[in-house]
Amino acid sequence: MKKIKKIINKKNKSKIVCLTAYSKNIAQEVDKYVDIVLVGDSLGSVLYNYSTTRKVTLTEMINHSKSVRLGVKKSLMVVDMPFNTYSTKNSALKNAKKIIKETNCDAVKLEGGKKIINQIKILIKNRVPVMGHLGLLPQSVKGKFKSKGKNDREIRQLINDAILLEKNGVFAIVLECIKAPIAKKISQNLNIPTIGIGSSVHCDGQVLVTDDLLGLNETKIKFVKKFLNLKKYINLGLKRFTSEVKQKKYPSKKYSY
Ligand code: KIV
Repeated sequence: MKKIKKIINKKNKSKIVCLTAYSKNIAQEVDKYVDIVLVGDSLGSVLYNYSTTRKVTLTEMINHSKSVRLGVKKSLMVVDMPFNTYSTKNSALKNAKKIIKETNCDAVKLEGGKKIINQIKILIKNRVPVMGHLGLLPQSVKGKFKSKGKNDREIRQLINDAILLEKNGVFAIVLECIKAPIAKKISQNLNIPTIGIGSSVHCDGQVLVTDDLLGLNETKIKFVKKFLNLKKYINLGLKRFTSEVKQKKYPSKKYSY
C-alpha cells in the first residue's frame, strides 16, 4: 500500500514512468528507472506472435510474472489480468487472488469501465489493488486499432468511466490512444494519476512496451518511439561469438579448464 500511495502522491508533482517487463533480466534493468513495472498481456503479440491479446492465458501471465518478480526490487509491480479471467465477479476475485498469491505482485490491471465495475468493486472490497485501463482496450478489439474520444458519445463514456473507476477505488488508470484534449480533461478531472500510452503528454505518466522502445519488437504503431536499436548491439555480440568460434579463438586458455 505504501508503494501505491507513493504513486498517487506523484500526481501534479512529477511524471510517473511505467514500462513493461516479461522476464527477470529485463525487469532488473527497467526497475532502476521506473515507478511501475507492468507485466502486460502485450506479451502475447510481442513474444508469442498471437494475433490478439485474447489468446494469452492465465498460466502464461503467472509464469512470466514469477520471472519478473525476481528482477523487481523497488518499483510497483502490476500484472494484467488476461481476457476471460474476469468476466464475472467470482472469476475476477478467484483469478486475481491466484495471480497475487503465485506472483507476489502488488496490483492487477483490468481493461474497461462501467461494464466491469462489479468485478472491480469486489476486488477492491477484498483489498486487491486495481489499476484501470480505458480508451483503446486491446482485449475488446476485433479489427483495426483506432483512437478513442472522436465523438460525443465516446467522450462522454470515457469521462464517465474514468470518474466511476476513481470513485470505486482504482489507484491509477492507463489511458490508451485517447485524443489529446480528452486525455487532458480526464487527467485534470481526477485525483488519481492517469498513465498515457498514445494519449498525449497531458497524462500524469507514460507507459510503453519496453521491447518496442528498445527496438527489439518491430512495430509501426504511431505512438511508439524507438529510443535504441538494441538489435544492432545484439547482432554485434552474436557476430563476434560466431567469428571467434569459427576462427578457433574461443574458447582460449582463459576460458578453458
Ligand atoms: O499489455 C500491455 O503491455 C499494456 C500496456 C501497453 C498499457 O496494457
